[in-house]
Amino acid sequence: MSTINVTIPADFILGAAASAWQTEGWSGKKAGQDSYLDAWYQHDRHVWHNGYGPAVATDFINRYKEDVALMKAAGLTHYRTSINWSRFLTDYENAVVDEEYAAYYDSLIDELLANGIQPMLCLEHYELPAALLEQYGGWGSKHVVELFVRYAQQVFARYAHKVTRWFTFNEPIVVQTRVYLDALRWPYEQNTDKWMQWNHHKNLATAKVVALFREQGYQGSVGTILNPEVTYPRSSAAHDVKAAEIYDLFYNRVFLDPAIKGEYPPELIALLAKHQVSWQYDATELAIIKANPVDEVGINLYYPHRVKAPSRAWHPETPFHPAFYYEHFELPGRRMNTSRGWEIQPAIVWDMAQRMKNEYDNFPWFIAENGMGIENEARFKNAGGEIQDDYRIDFITEHLYQALRANAAGMNCQGYMLWAFTDNVSPMNAFKNRYGLIEIDLENQRQRRMKKSAHWYQQVSEQRQLTV
Ligand code: BG6
Repeated sequence: MSTINVTIPADFILGAAASAWQTEGWSGKKAGQDSYLDAWYQHDRHVWHNGYGPAVATDFINRYKEDVALMKAAGLTHYRTSINWSRFLTDYENAVVDEEYAAYYDSLIDELLANGIQPMLCLEHYELPAALLEQYGGWGSKHVVELFVRYAQQVFARYAHKVTRWFTFNEPIVVQTRVYLDALRWPYEQNTDKWMQWNHHKNLATAKVVALFREQGYQGSVGTILNPEVTYPRSSAAHDVKAAEIYDLFYNRVFLDPAIKGEYPPELIALLAKHQVSWQYDATELAIIKANPVDEVGINLYYPHRVKAPSRAWHPETPFHPAFYYEHFELPGRRMNTSRGWEIQPAIVWDMAQRMKNEYDNFPWFIAENGMGIENEARFKNAGGEIQDDYRIDFITEHLYQALRANAAGMNCQGYMLWAFTDNVSPMNAFKNRYGLIEIDLENQRQRRMKKSAHWYQQVSEQRQLTV
């Protein structure tokens, strides 16, 4: 089979991502600093994997210097993670900084920069303080929006002179979708009103933080990291196309449009009104969103979503759920990552790039996450103990190629970040599925070891060339 070599532009990001909660562990955490995820993990012990969970995670908080050296060895140009809001402050009302935790971030950022790796920091990767959920109902409260802005102010004051690429949220739709739409996670409450209120307040919080950053005159940019699902209708029949369009409104455009265009799609507002979804917003808030679009978006892309028109009738008494309009559809014969149950379809990258070009005026974006979670990866170790993850190399190659192709064709895809740099704690299933370029050996003091893919990534990064 013939191969082609694709040049990777010098300014194209070749990075990897992680988040604070999924790596750091609870070492040094003070009473009252639980995040929503900590609270969930304490309620639902079944999500821990063989007893391994977030308590130690990868112990990044103690081992970040070792990990930064590995980032360099794996050729990363950028590293994306979050600051854990619940730990950065000791008092959320008055935004009092936890000096010990903040000093660790100072040191981490310095270590990254000293090794030529650009940090990209997110202010919330599901790390809403649990106390704010208990006291105010979390993102259902307008006061929590204000508290988030106070937190952002402290973060920027401390680090914005050395970190220039900021993000408000990672996948802001996820928690309330699992908790309030689908009632799959603690506190298990189907409540579409709350779902939309959380969506709106996160959109408002993004706009306010963008405004703050600009008012204070910092150099750099503020974006947000979204997970718009590349959604395909089962067929070109009108009812399937309509199902996909409505799915897109509820799960994708609800964040994409406010972030980039500064406004909600009128069709979404009309559908929410039609189904009497009650959410509180006013003209002042909409004006703040309008005036403060983000500078860039990171997009997490894993697998395609396929929908069809619903085949069953909706019971009129049931609270409204967007699934009133669609059903999921599985493509026969699809390629699968069976560990995670996700379809593999690299065309989603090209299709997302086209969408950003055609519908969002070629707005700057990059792949903020893409990757492959594999169960029991130790079975792929060679005699020397190195995981031979050729499946991951193939997966990255196929998706990165689509991103480079889009970039070369004038679409504004500016980089690729793998999820994840190391194996880490998944919110859904702790350490069960391994995503890392670097193995974390749980049975051996969390020893780090580069997988085959890490050596390969380093080569690609050094040569700035992808062989397909
Ligand atoms: C992304 C999240 O949606 O997917 C990460 O931003 C998450 O936090 C990743 O870990 C992989 O999904 P999962 O559920 O397999 O961990």
